[in-house]
This record gives sequence, C-alpha cells and structure tokens, in this order.
Amino acid sequence: MSTERSGWKTNIGFLLAAIGSAIGLGNVWRFSYMSFQYGGGAFLVPYLVALGVAGLPIMILEYGIGHRQKGSAPLSLARIDSRFEWLGWWMPVVAMLGIMLYYSVVIGWCVNYFCYSFSLAWGNDPQAFFFKNFLELSDSAVHLGGLRIPIVFSTLLVWVLCWAVCYRDISHGIEKASMVFMPVLFLLTIIMVAWSASLDGAGAAIANHYLHADWSKINLFTADPEKARAAAEVWTAAFGQIFFTLSLGFGIMITYASYLPENTDITKNALVTSVVNCLYSFIAGFAVFGIVGFMAKTQGTAFEEVIKSGPQLAFVVYPKAISLLPGMNTAFGIIFFLMLILAGLTSGVSLIEAFACSVTDKFAWSRQKVVSVVCCAGFLGSLVFTSRAGLYLLDIADHFITNYGLVLGGALECLIVGWVFRASVLREHISAQGTRLPAAWDIFIRYTTPAILAYLLFLTVKADLSKNYGGYPTDQLLIFGGGWMIICLMLALALAFGPWKADKLARRHEPGEDELLV
Ligand code: ALA
Repeated sequence: MSTERSGWKTNIGFLLAAIGSAIGLGNVWRFSYMSFQYGGGAFLVPYLVALGVAGLPIMILEYGIGHRQKGSAPLSLARIDSRFEWLGWWMPVVAMLGIMLYYSVVIGWCVNYFCYSFSLAWGNDPQAFFFKNFLELSDSAVHLGGLRIPIVFSTLLVWVLCWAVCYRDISHGIEKASMVFMPVLFLLTIIMVAWSASLDGAGAAIANHYLHADWSKINLFTADPEKARAAAEVWTAAFGQIFFTLSLGFGIMITYASYLPENTDITKNALVTSVVNCLYSFIAGFAVFGIVGFMAKTQGTAFEEVIKSGPQLAFVVYPKAISLLPGMNTAFGIIFFLMLILAGLTSGVSLIEAFACSVTDKFAWSRQKVVSVVCCAGFLGSLVFTSRAGLYLLDIADHFITNYGLVLGGALECLIVGWVFRASVLREHISAQGTRLPAAWDIFIRYTTPAILAYLLFLTVKADLSKNYGGYPTDQLLIFGGGWMIICLMLALALAFGPWKADKLARRHEPGEDELLV
C-alpha cells in the first residue's frame, strides 16, 4: 500500500470538500435559469435522468478509480495503461486552463459586488452599471480593450486565497477550509432562501415558473422538427449541467478520492455528494425565483421580462432586486455575494488541486512549489478574462469546455475503465469498501453512459453546426472555443510525454488480490 500521500483526517472533511467542489457558481444561477428556460419543473426530468444515467455512475467511477489507484487522474489512468495517460491529463488541464482561468474572474466579480453592496453602488440601473461602468464591455470578443483594474485586483485576491488553502497539505488546507466554509455557505443559503421566498410575489413566481412543468419542452418525440430540436437542446444542456455541477470529467473527484483511506464506503459517499449537490441547486432555485418574482411584482413587469441568463442574473437582476427591497438591502447584498464567493472558492481550490496534484505526482516536485507556480501562472492566464472582452471570452470558453471537453472526457473514462481496466474489477474493489454496487453499474459504465454521451456530443455538434453558439461569428468561435480546446489538448499531450519520477508507476500489490493494474 502506498503510504506517501497525505490524506483526509475525517470522512466528513472529505465529503464537505467534495460537496464544496460540486456546489459552485453553477448551482446558483446556471441551474435556476436553465429551469426557467427549459420547462420549469419539467427540466427536473432530464436533469434527474442525467444524474441517474451519467452523473451518479461516473461519480462512483471517479471515486472508485482514484481510491483504487491512489493517484491523480493522470497517475490513475497511466497505472491502467500508459497509453491513456494523456486523457488523465486532459481532465485536470481542462479544469485548470479551461475553467479555473475564467472561474476565478467570476468569483472576482462577486468580490467586487460584495464591496459594492455596502453602498448599493450599482444605483438605479444595474444593467448599465454592470456592462458599462463595471465591465466596460467592448463591442466584440476580438477587441480586448485593455484590463479592468478593479477586476484584476479582485481576481488576484481570489488566486491568493486559493493559493493559501492549496499550499498546505490536504487535511490542513482544503479539508480545514471546507469544514469552515461549507457550514457557513449552507447557513447563508438557508437565510437567502427563507428571506427571498417570503417576499411579496415570490410564492406565485415559484409556483408558476419554477415548479410548474411545461412538458412540451422536453418531448423529444414530437412530430414538429423545430420543437424536437429545442427538446434536444434541453436534454444536452441537462447533461452538460450535471457534469459541470458535479465536477465530473475534471479529474477532481479522482484526486480527492485518492486521499481516502481503505474501507471508505465509496458508493455511499458518491450518493451523498451527488444528492446533496443537486438538492442544493433545487433549494437555491427558490431564492432565485423568489427574488425575481418579487422584482417582477414590484415593477409590474412580466416574470419572463425580468429573468436573465448566466452572469446577468447575479450581477444585474439581483442587484436590482436588492435595491428594491423595503429594508436591509445592504445585508441582503452582502449575504448573497458572500454566498457566491464561498461557493466559488470551494470549487476553485478543487480545480487547482486536480491539476497541482497531477503535476506533483508526475514530477515529484514539492506541493508548495507546484501550487505556488500554478497559482502565479493561473493568475497571469486569467488576466485575459479581466479584459474588456472578458465576458464574451468566458461565455465561449464555457460553452465549448462544458459541452465538449467534460462530456468527451467522461465518455472516454467510462470506456477505458469499463473495457480496459474492467468495470467488474473496479466494482469488486468498490463493493469491498462498504455498500455493494449492483452489477448493473457495469452495464452503465461499459455501454449505456458512453453511448448516451456520444449521442449527446453528436447532438451538440449538429446544433453548433446549424447555428452559431450565442450568435458569435464563426471565426471567433473557432479561435476562442476550438483554439482553446486545442491548446488544452496540446498541453495534455505534452505533459503525458516523458517518464514518471520516483517510480510512481510501480505496480501495487495488495494481499489476496491478483495483479490488476496491467
Ligand atoms: N461544480 C462547480 C460548479 O458548479 C464547478 O460551479
């Protein structure tokens, strides 16, 4: 048994860190807006199907393989077969380069808005404030227009905080931080939900727009081709969201599980992580729909006119609603943005950890050195998203990385573990740790999940070919979306090149076990 890795002190520490990775910025606004756009309560059907057929089986797979192979994603996959090491790198590279670089900037915006909450600095027109005064948004993705200094400073603060947490070993850094941040985050969320849902107009908005189901939006088998195309978009979005929200396909859960001791109930931990994360999204939805409903009622506007997608929901709609509150506006703003900062930070540290641990595993450099270099380089890389074109760039990067990068990584890891390592071997390992995993899991990992993910990729490609994502010009999508993915792939291949230091790939022998790691 490899003993050189430090580990979690407690199972609850591990769970809070894994749930902290899963619960992030995406849970608060991404899920809520998707629910609204994709059929209200009906969206829960594709979301729960995605959780059942892809989210949960892959969460168990990632926990299982990290725990069995005792390594980050590249080490775990290289220990299966060195030909697949590149995929092990693809996942943390996507986490770091593809996600964390812009994710840190969005947490930075939350820091700025946390400060603005004290004086309600966005005034009467938060939309103009966000786009013109705060982002100073340029007219296209190719006009970077220089850096926004307030965003550079807040992004720097985010990287310093993440560095301070990741610098220490896992139990003194991420575990300790999660033990503090997560209970505070849950408390703030409960306050937010109770407060928002009690506002005038909240109940009707929740009932009519959040819980009310429009089944036609998810019906794939309608005769109307336009409606069928729209329904396909709902299903692909639900799967993309499940990957993003559960932090799957990033190598994070593999890395986190590699720090677990023997006899840890993998299945139960995977179930708890997935259920708590999805429940959190669902509950946070009450806060979002409640406050948007209040705003619609106060302004005498239709709900559909008020709700906005993605960043606009947090940085335009919420500030507006906060200003309209009858009292305690500042307190509401502070709690809301603090909640986002905490949710973002616990995910941010996990994105860094997945990459830093992979580098430490391969090159046997000290954790402190790697984390310091990664955070400095990460901050410099994220500067591009602090430019005046940052919002466009992150929107394009997010679309490609989530819908292609994560889904592709997830499908390939299923195939490698299912067919090369063999799902049954991993299932035996997982079952030996506690709760028995049914044999049906093998079928999911070998056939069902990769087949569904491949079909979704096909649908995404088809949709992207028929209509430019977000209305961006083709060359910009190719450069900032396709180009970004190619850079990630090149980096993954480069890192997979060359030998492992410190005999890391040595086979592990365990009593009573055949040699499985060929
Ligand atoms: N899982 C994280 C989120 O939802 C990345 O934001």
